[in-house]
Amino acid sequence: MALLDLSSYNLIPDTQTSIYILAAIGTLYLIPHLTTRTDIPLITGIPEIPHALPIFGHLLTLGADHATVCEAWWRQHRTPVFQIRLGNTRAVVINSFADCKRMLITHQSAVIDRPKLYTFHGLISSTQGFTIGSSPWDASCKLKRSAAGRALGRSKLKDYYDMFDLESYCLVRDLAKDVSDGGGTKEIDVRKYIQRYALNTTLTLCYGIRMDSVDDSMLREILEVGSAISLLRSASENYQDYIPLLRYWPNNSKNRRSCELRDRRDKYLNVLLDQTREMIKNGTDKPCISAAILKDEENKLSGVEVSSICLSLVSGGFETIPGTLTSCIGSLSTPAGQVFQERAYEDIKSLYPDVRDAWRNSYQEERLPYVNAIIKEAARYYTVSAMSLPRKTVEDIEWDGAVIPKNMMILINAQAANHDIDHFGPDAATFNPERWLNKKAPIGIQHLSFGAGSRACSGQLIASRLLYTALVRIICSYKIVASEEMPPNTDYVEYNAAKSALVAIPRAFGVRLVSRGEEGELEECLEEASERVKGFYREG
Ligand code: HEM
Repeated sequence: MALLDLSSYNLIPDTQTSIYILAAIGTLYLIPHLTTRTDIPLITGIPEIPHALPIFGHLLTLGADHATVCEAWWRQHRTPVFQIRLGNTRAVVINSFADCKRMLITHQSAVIDRPKLYTFHGLISSTQGFTIGSSPWDASCKLKRSAAGRALGRSKLKDYYDMFDLESYCLVRDLAKDVSDGGGTKEIDVRKYIQRYALNTTLTLCYGIRMDSVDDSMLREILEVGSAISLLRSASENYQDYIPLLRYWPNNSKNRRSCELRDRRDKYLNVLLDQTREMIKNGTDKPCISAAILKDEENKLSGVEVSSICLSLVSGGFETIPGTLTSCIGSLSTPAGQVFQERAYEDIKSLYPDVRDAWRNSYQEERLPYVNAIIKEAARYYTVSAMSLPRKTVEDIEWDGAVIPKNMMILINAQAANHDIDHFGPDAATFNPERWLNKKAPIGIQHLSFGAGSRACSGQLIASRLLYTALVRIICSYKIVASEEMPPNTDYVEYNAAKSALVAIPRAFGVRLVSRGEEGELEECLEEASERVKGFYREG
């Protein structure tokens, strides 16, 4: 096929041939140039992983599980920090604990930004604004992050005691109800109870609304849409974010799906906000973020910012907490984990000889060292947000003689860092809460599951308290025993059924709950809690 139609130019044959040759050379040069060009050119001094393909870069080799492939590249190429190409986007990946810490803490002001992606930012977030975790750093993000920080800070925890009490009571109440027929022989999947626990907490925080049934249709809709959106945020599911040509593919199903999910999400977010408005009008509203903002005429937040804060908190916790707590229960249910359970139970009984006191105090304080160790280990070992949330540089970073330029995507491989043997020792790939109890336990940042530095997780205090309260109440009520037919997968990579999603979804497994303590003890705790929490919050 002729590259150019030169017949009308009446050129002498030699000139024409030369032009053809030049055009061919140009094309041969241009095609590779255009198909391997990246937003930021190769950085000298930081190794690039070899064998990037034209157009795709490393996207195809990375497959669905970026964290595990990058962890393997770190070992194979013996370099904890390297460059990769995601289509037309160059990114620096940080894998070791020491380098993640250095990037997120020492350079925290340089990596305060987040990259903008076509599908998530352009399509899904076009109506309710960006969540805080996906907002680039600007004046609005600063306002939203400080509003969230105020609502989720340590001094606010006591305002949420009623909610912690009520939700953890409902968690154990329904587990008890559903296992009661089998006399300790019935197996259940704990995840759906924990999903409601996490989601109700953030819905209460944001809107003063909760749903009592684990099968509530609105609850299931929020969980389904949220999980589907989490899938659309990951690089492996969204080649069109990095290969712009794909956006214009006829009948683009990604675009259609994104718009459909956005509309479904808008619908329930608007219903929730309208219910809060209605409660304010009738004087029946409960203290919550949206009511506080809606009632406060002084605040500087726009309507979209209020929606964005609520959306950030709802989406921040509804998968991360179930991912962590469900997998933790899985590990505790195994024969090795039952030893940890017994020690945690002894720890509880030594501080609270009367189990009713354990129930009464489980949401006001985190004083049980063994339970705290289990929580840290669960968060570390099951790094539910394996590649954390991407960052972007706002200024050049000097890195061991190289310069990582402004506007560069930085990917933090939290899974790799959390299993780094140089930091956690040779048993880094083992679930062992006791590592946090010995004197040599790491100080400072303990693990990278909540990120670190200027954009670290705003909800980590609430998350820890939720995990603590639930674990104390479950462990002092039941011994958790893994199903023989459907045991948990406790491998720190393979436990995850959705490797390409932003947040892990543990594979389904069954457990038996065998009553502990004296006859009638649990019933008494439940009855007392039921009296206490009566009328705390309105049902959605
Ligand atoms: C086990 C539970 C949780 C885990 C593992 C988790 C993990 C994370 C991670 C890895 C980040 C990114 C940090 C970084 O870039 O350095 C993040 C950000 C965030 N998380 Fe969480 N999170 C959890 C629970 C929650 C909860 C319960 C909330 C809210 C109620 C929440 C709200 C947020 C917000 C608002 C951000 C964005 C911060 C920013 O970009 O400035 N998270 N979380």
